[in-house]
Amino acid sequence: EQSERDSLFIVSDFANKHFQERLHKHDHGSIGQSYLKQRGLSGNTIRKFELGYSLDEWTDLTDTALKAGYQQKYLEATGLTIVKEEGKKFDRFRGRVMFPIHNVSGRVIGFGARTLKSNDKKSPKYLNSPESDIYHKSNVLYGLYQAKQALRMQDMCYMVEGYLDVLSLHQGGIENVVASSGTSLTEGQIKLIARYTQNITVLYDGDAAGIKASLRGIDLILENGLNVDVVTFPEGEDPDSYIQKVGDTAFKTYLKEHAQDFISFKTSLYAAEAKGNPVRKAEAIREVVTSIAKIPDSIKRTVFFRSCSLIFDIDEQVLISEYNKMQLQER
Ligand code: CTP
Ligand code: MN
Ligand code: MN
Ligand code: MN
Ligand code: MN
Repeated sequence: EQSERDSLFIVSDFANKHFQERLHKHDHGSIGQSYLKQRGLSGNTIRKFELGYSLDEWTDLTDTALKAGYQQKYLEATGLTIVKEEGKKFDRFRGRVMFPIHNVSGRVIGFGARTLKSNDKKSPKYLNSPESDIYHKSNVLYGLYQAKQALRMQDMCYMVEGYLDVLSLHQGGIENVVASSGTSLTEGQIKLIARYTQNITVLYDGDAAGIKASLRGIDLILENGLNVDVVTFPEGEDPDSYIQKVGDTAFKTYLKEHAQDFISFKTSLYAAEAKGNPVRKAEAIREVVTSIAKIPDSIKRTVFFRSCSLIFDIDEQVLISEYNKMQLQER
């Protein structure tokens, strides 16, 4: 007997094929095609990631699916169809470029969808599928299915924020890349990566706010015993805009030259902020020691205490005694 979850997989697969058919075969698909082209994506990348287009109509997907015999309850359960109290139905995704999200075994479990408008205050830039029995956001990484082999081969995972970042890097020959899709990193996502590699390099969008917001997620990576490096981009750039701007080769060189281990990165960030202010320096030191304390491996901790003491220009023993105090407080 077919389970409820199977039905959700099946209707998601239908929708994925439908959106691709609309992009490639429908008259209005050219709207989506020219958007993707303008974003610098090749036909190859579009096919590899199964990108699609939802027509700018109220019930294109819903009508097509019902006519083909799919049940409304599964369209609703996956969030593809929204049903109002009066029973009025409409498609969640309309007039958007569609990014199917696959699970590790390659089945479609949900969608991200981008508006084609560059400056629309009324509707959000991205719409995403809601949580469902097959789609649990906290346990999903966009691009993981396409990245799996490269993660093992390169023994490293680039972590980016967005769909377009994944696509542009792939296109540039960097296939070991996944996206958290804008949410802060979860333990479930880290454990997914840890099946393939213990090394993560986080590629931040180049704005200070974004960086500060992601620091917690990175502590979580350390707690799980993985190694973390960080690359930041010039203000206003994200990995996608930057690789499209400078090209594959220069981008790869940039990654090599700017990769910094996370603890040094965080130390420098806080040390710079605390400059000339002893109270803030003390806070900064405690903040960094908190991160180092999360590292399960004692040898790694020792190495980081040393590099941190150099950046702060402070005796290593001060850091270690701060660490010991923290350990005592935790008991
Ligand atoms: N995101 C989202 N909903 C939003 C904004 C962002 O779900 N309203 C998620 C998307 O997964 C997006 C990621 O957060 O890819 C990163 O957001 P942002 O950097 O703003 O978007 P970009 O991926 O850079 O998209 P674009 O280049 O098309 O502007
Ligand atoms: Mn479940
Ligand atoms: Mn951003
Ligand atoms: Mn971005
Ligand atoms: Mn972007």
